[in-house]
Order: sequence, then structure tokens, then C-alpha cells
Amino acid sequence: MTDPSALSGEAAAPDAAEDLPATDAAAPTQAAAPRRTTFADLGLSEPVLRAVADAGYLHPTPIQEQAIPIVLMGRDVLGSAQTGTGKTASFTLPMLDIMQSGRARARMPRALILEPTRELAAQVADNFVKYAKYLRFDYALIIGGESMGEQIARLNRGVDVLIATPGRLIDLFERGGLLLNDVRILVIDEADRMLDMGFIPDVERIVSLLPRMRQTLFFSATMPPEIKRLADAFLHNPKQITVAPPATVASTVAQHLALVRAHDKREALRRLLRSEDVRNALVFCNRKRDVEVLCRSLVRHGFNAAMLHGDMTQPRRTETLERFKAGEIRILVCSDVAARGIDIGGLSHVFNFDVPFHAEDYVHRIGRTGRAGLSGRAFTLATVEEDEALAAIERLIGKPIPRIQIDGLDPVSLDVLEPRGRRGRGRGRGARDAAEKPERAAAPPAGTPRPPAAAARTAPPPGPRRAGRARPGDRPRPDPEGEVVGFGGAVPDFMRLPTRKPVRTGRADDEAA
Ligand SMILES: Nc1ncnc2c1ncn2[C@@H]1O[C@H](COP(=O)(O)OP(=O)(O)OP(=O)(O)O)[C@@H](O)[C@H]1O
Ligand SMILES: [Mg+2]
Repeated sequence: MTDPSALSGEAAAPDAAEDLPATDAAAPTQAAAPRRTTFADLGLSEPVLRAVADAGYLHPTPIQEQAIPIVLMGRDVLGSAQTGTGKTASFTLPMLDIMQSGRARARMPRALILEPTRELAAQVADNFVKYAKYLRFDYALIIGGESMGEQIARLNRGVDVLIATPGRLIDLFERGGLLLNDVRILVIDEADRMLDMGFIPDVERIVSLLPRMRQTLFFSATMPPEIKRLADAFLHNPKQITVAPPATVASTVAQHLALVRAHDKREALRRLLRSEDVRNALVFCNRKRDVEVLCRSLVRHGFNAAMLHGDMTQPRRTETLERFKAGEIRILVCSDVAARGIDIGGLSHVFNFDVPFHAEDYVHRIGRTGRAGLSGRAFTLATVEEDEALAAIERLIGKPIPRIQIDGLDPVSLDVLEPRGRRGRGRGRGARDAAEKPERAAAPPAGTPRPPAAAARTAPPPGPRRAGRARPGDRPRPDPEGEVVGFGGAVPDFMRLPTRKPVRTGRADDEAA
């Protein structure tokens, strides 16, 4: 059972009652604010606390507050909390403390972190460097896309932690460059993604190479029930820590949905990009080739845009992401390679040019903004062809996405277009084909104004699924109780400043996106 205080997303403060003064003569009517938990309360060592303070963190987030003591106790954890609420430090900080006893031996790392993409693995490595600055600590980043030589050399010197994408790790193991019998801690970040179809064989193989006596930690913002069942194979009596119901969208992200005709999508995106106060934005497409086409189109229209997808060489991927983080590129059109875990300080907007095929990806994509307590805005452009995928998302997140109308574009109603748009279409992944075909939309009503600059305005309540179209189970779940604040408590001012440094040169490849 999940602790109700965890569900609320507010930092539990078990010691708060003791901290309240018994009587307060000076302010008898004012209740003293409960003392917020500090990192020192969690049992972390002094060098780690100093590094955390240097990072500017004042208080642990709810997932950190709950997970860190459990990890320090050596227990397995199945941890879920909204995007951008500090899951990385929930496992890296206690790992650093646990690993302070013992020394790394050549080719025998003591901990392993699996990540689904090279960029995310590199980012987690950066986090380790930041948190381990007062410790003697070595890591190796084992990701595809570059020569293995340097990675092997590093392993030979002896590392404490491997941060890896699965494919390259297995390659290296098979070449005899690595022994995994000393691994005492396994972290599977983005666990549901890593236990998704494509990754399962590799993850199973890797886990079979690890000692049975180990600590295993799973983290993700989404934890579908079937993943929990799968996780049972890898975890031993895990402590389940659920800060918010799995797949809860971070409350810091303002969501919007615009129903548009397929041939209006690019125009709709351009209008939003012009009318919104976009500092920097990720624009997600479902297919790599659409990433390229859309990026070229945006550049032609004068936008400062670049692209990121899994078919690019790793040096180009890394360089592009660094330039985006540095603010040299304002709009990054990308595949789902950038959907999980990537932390771009102060990202103002996410646009879904396509409705993602997998509902979980929606939560992760829009979670690239609204991180670390900052607010962000997310816009999804949907055609009637994407109706099924949209319904799946609204079921998952438990509410309808607020509809907007983009000024100057023909209004679209799912009801009006349903007979042509949806009949005979497959469900779920079938939407892949549907989304590819340009919709032959009716001619716009005569006289429809198309002003050059558009502003999105909130559309009348959509009635997310109208009576005639309702299917059992197609309704969004009722709202989870209250708003969940994944960062817990007030947001300190320093967190309103972007804190990211450019990610280090990444190396490699495993992911398909
Ligand atoms: N206690 C804290 N105080 C302030 N900032 C923090 C704290 N913990 C983490 N952060 C910052 O919050 C941001 C998001 O953290 P992180 O990437 O770990 O989120 P996440 O929960 O793993 O998100 P995702 O589900 O997208 O992977 C980072 O920039 C990190 O530096
Ligand atoms: Mg993460």
C-alpha cells in the first residue's frame, strides 16, 4: 500500500510534530511551519551532503526523501514519481555512500546503471560527477556509437560504477572486457522502458550475469502494472515507493491539445511557435523521417531549428544536444530518443507534432518541461486519425487534455470527422499507419479568416468523448485527488534558474528511436 502522504506528493515530514514548539507565547495564533526535511536527515555522509549543497539543493524532493533512506538500508526499491522530480539523485546519492566502503578492481565494477539512451546515460554520468566531487570515485560510460578502446581502458583502471546502455554493455562483455560478478547494486532507470519489448532480452541477459545477492533499484515516472509483474523477476521484496499515481503528469506542466487537420499541422505548429513565448522547445515526431522533414520545413520558414534522432551519428547527436542546451538552437525537432529522462534546464515548451503511439511516452515527452519546480507548457497537435492514441493517453493520465483552438485555422471536431477519420482504422499501434497518411480534409468554410499570426485560445470544453463515441473504458479516469506536487513544498528561488551544464560527449547507441 502506498503511504497517503506519498500519494499527495507532499514531502512527508515524520519529525515535524516534534519540531513544533509546545507553546509559542510570541505568536499564539500562528501555527509554526513544519520543519522541512533536509538531506542531512536522510543519513547521507558529509562529502555527499556538501556536494548536494554545492548543487544548490536545499531540501530533498518527496521521492528523494522516501527513497534515499531505504536505499541506504540496502533494500530493493520500485520507485515512481513524476518527471523532473529528482529520481536520479534518489539513487545516485545513496549509491555513492554505499560504495564508499570498498575499492574498485580492474574490469570489475561494483554498481551498474542501465539507461535506455546514450544521451541519458551521459547525463546520469554528469550527475555522478557532480555528486561525487568530494569522494574518490570512478565511473565508466559504456554506450555505443564510438570506439570501445577508451571505454575498455577506463574499465581496466578499475571503476566503481558503470553507466551503460544495454547493447554496448553486452558487446563489451562478450569481448571479455568486463566482469560483472562484483556488481552489488543494479539500477534500472526508466524501468518500464527498459522492460519494454525491445530491451527485455538484453536486460535479462545482463541480469543473468550479475550476482544474485545484490540490491536492485527500479525508477520511472510511469510504471504500468505489467511492468510491476515483470519487475518481480528482478527485484527481491522491493519497497514500492509511489509519490504520485504512476503516469501522473507533473503538475508544473500546463497541457493543451489542438485538434487540427493533417494538412494544417505544420501551420498550426508555426502559429503556436510564433504566438507562444517560446524560449526553447522540443518538438516530438513519431518517425525519424518526419523529424527530418519537419525540421527542414521549420528552417525554411525561418525558425532556428535542428533535429535529433537515432539515425544520426553519435558525434552529431551529442553536438546537437549540447548546442540546444547552450541556447544556440532554439527548436529541437526530435524522435522519442529525447523523450525519457533528458533534463534541459528551463525548457519552456514541448510540442507533440504527432500524438505518441504509446500513451506513456506522452507523460515522458511533456515531462521534459516543467522540471525541478519550474513551470512549462506542452501542446499536442492531433488529427482525427490519432483519436485512438489520444484516447489511450487520456485514459492513462486520468483526465482530458484541455482543448484549444488555434486562431486562423479551421476548427476541427472529432465528432464531425469521425465517420471518415476513424472507421476501419486499427487500434493502438495501428495508428502508426494512420498518422502517416495526410488526411483529405474538407475545404475550409468560405470566409474562414486566416490571420498571419495566431494565438491559441482555450476552446469550449470538448466533452472529451461524446456520447455517441464512447467505448467502455475509453473515459478518462476521475481526477486523482487533489493536485500532486512532485517537487513537494515550495520551490526555492535558486531552482528557477537553469542549472544544467552541457552534457559530456556521448558515445553510443542502443536505442532504436
Ligand atoms: N532536491 C533538489 N532540489 C533542487 N533541485 C533538484 C533536487 N533534486 C533534483 N533536482 C534537479 O531537478 C532536475 C530533475 O531531476 P531528475 O533529472 O533527476 O528528474 P527525474 O525525476 O529523473 O525526471 P524524469 O522522469 O524525466 O527522468 C535536475 O535538474 C536536478 O538537478
Ligand atoms: Mg530520470
